[in-house]
Amino acid sequence: MARKIVVTSGKGGVGKTTVTANLGVQLAKNGCRVVVCDLDFGLNNVDVVLGVENLSSFDVIDAIEGRCRPKQALVRHPHYPTLYSLASNRISDRYVSPQAVRLILDTLAPQFDYILIDSPAGIDEGFHRAVACAEEALLVTTPHISALRDADRVGNMLKGYRLSRIGLVVNMVRSDLVRRGEILTPEEIAKALRIPLTAIVPEEDKIFLENVADRVKAFKQLANFYMGAAPEEETEKKYTGLLGAFLRGLKKS
Ligand SMILES: Nc1ncnc2c1ncn2[C@@H]1O[C@H](COP(=O)(O)OP(=O)(O)O)[C@@H](O)[C@H]1O
Ligand SMILES: [Mg+2]
Repeated sequence: MARKIVVTSGKGGVGKTTVTANLGVQLAKNGCRVVVCDLDFGLNNVDVVLGVENLSSFDVIDAIEGRCRPKQALVRHPHYPTLYSLASNRISDRYVSPQAVRLILDTLAPQFDYILIDSPAGIDEGFHRAVACAEEALLVTTPHISALRDADRVGNMLKGYRLSRIGLVVNMVRSDLVRRGEILTPEEIAKALRIPLTAIVPEEDKIFLENVADRVKAFKQLANFYMGAAPEEETEKKYTGLLGAFLRGLKKS
């Protein structure tokens, strides 16, 4: 039965879709059966980030409104055979109840290991719809003050839901700024938000899904975390290059 994990944030543009897509890819690379579900109606772009936008004939609204079966709305990723995309719809003004979406995800759940839900930023109806469908949440923020304030609000909202786990991803971390004390460290952010730190993703010029750069290892580590594999110490030892330096710097400080 699939674990349903919602990826959410207070502010837009902090990396929810990037985290959802990359976590999906890494879980699929480990052989997990994954659905990446886009519930960010209106700003939907999970299919684009996964590179499958031209392959979908149906979306989640088609499944909800009975134009197709839930499974027919899935698009199998051409490179990762256990990774599926469930696209959203550009029509953002239609009311879609959390129950309707949950029914679709519950129908799919027995055939998958993970359903990752990309949610809209903020705390309105779309946020509620996405979180109400999930059992676990991953809050994404950047270290910037404007994002942190919104993350705090969303973090407090999340604590009001029946979730078995809330994790935190601090994205777009620049190790040079951390070292110079110009931004809060991911640990300080986790402490301020009172949410355990699940992953640190450094800022890089381009997040390629198949990048072999050190920073993509952050997503591997995140996938390992959800699979209950690779204790932190071991994973950390494998880090080299920029991320390694960053983690070593964190340890020293
Ligand atoms: N760690 C990172 N380093 C550099 N750019 C990033 C990183 N994470 C995300 N981005 C970029 O930031 C932009 C917003 O990311 P996205 O995942 O779409 O955010 P959201 O879904 O929260 O709106 C995208 O252009 C994305 O490629
Ligand atoms: Mg997004």
